[in-house]
Amino acid sequence: MSRSVSHSNKTVGGLNVWNRLADQWALVTGASAGLGAEFARQLASRGMHLVLVARRGELMSELAQELHTKHGTRCEIIVADLSDPAEPKRILDEIAAKGISIELLVNNAGFGVVGEVENAKVDRLLQLIRLNISALTELTYRLLPAMLERGHGAILNVSSLSAFQPVAYMGTYAASKAFVLHFSEALHCELKDRGITVTAVCPGVTRTNFFDIAGAPGWLQKHSSLSVEPVVKSALNAIARRRQFVVPGWRNFLLTLLVRIASRRRVVKESTRFFRPRRNAPK
Ligand SMILES: NC(=O)c1ccc[n+]([C@@H]2O[C@H](COP(=O)([O-])OP(=O)(O)OC[C@H]3O[C@@H](n4cnc5c(N)ncnc54)[C@H](OP(=O)(O)O)[C@@H]3O)[C@@H](O)[C@H]2O)c1
Repeated sequence: MSRSVSHSNKTVGGLNVWNRLADQWALVTGASAGLGAEFARQLASRGMHLVLVARRGELMSELAQELHTKHGTRCEIIVADLSDPAEPKRILDEIAAKGISIELLVNNAGFGVVGEVENAKVDRLLQLIRLNISALTELTYRLLPAMLERGHGAILNVSSLSAFQPVAYMGTYAASKAFVLHFSEALHCELKDRGITVTAVCPGVTRTNFFDIAGAPGWLQKHSSLSVEPVVKSALNAIARRRQFVVPGWRNFLLTLLVRIASRRRVVKESTRFFRPRRNAPK
């Protein structure tokens, strides 16, 4: 099968990570759009086969066709709503039944909610917690035993810049991403000497449909943002370097440093300037 593996491979401890992962399987959640679709594209270009998971099967079918044509990638598509507590186990049972073992798990599916308390839809917030936290935790813990048995594997969890601080008007989302970052860093430490790499990627504002879905349409255009390509590239480089976490973009990285030296009170207050619903937002 011919492939174009055009990326520079990173050598870590004498091991060329992408050479080892070529022809292995990655499971990417939230693969129908945005960062997840880009993870699928860049992993396929590095020679991996893919299990794609999201609710919109048609988009994933189109992507699978594209990747097969370009790279000869084998794709399995599993349509699932990961906020349904039964789905993570069902997905992994389906994968096991096909005889596929997952070498790289990309826990990317997630959404945000922006708004005032008066307009909060509690069911939507609980759905967010089930997707951003519970599904990610369950997929991780259910896949880890097999990785530990083999003595190798990698997990990439998509967190956010908002993981570094509380964010007013986006409190549940930011707290869910703080969970993802802390959870990933703890696991990284537990597993790094056992052949497993766990990395959190913490993107700042990235050009996807995220803010439209979060209830803040038009917000994105007002601020500097990155496209999906460099964010995903930086995340995949971080896996190869066995990093604990990565913040793509130097401006975003500087923000995480500022947040550490400013008072927490000041930091949360500042977040209201960005996320207060637009009718009150400062120009
Ligand atoms: N864009 C940003 O500025 C930004 C910044 C920091 C972190 N992030 C994080 O990046 C990740 C990807 O977001 P994105 O920006 O690429 O947003 P996006 O374009 O809206 O993509 C979200 C993906 O998650 C999937 N998804 C949503 N709900 C799902 C559910 N219940 N079950 C299964 N899949 C579900 C969506 O697929 P279906 O709709 O087909 O299910 C879609 O593929 C998220 O974890 C997000 O929190 C984004």
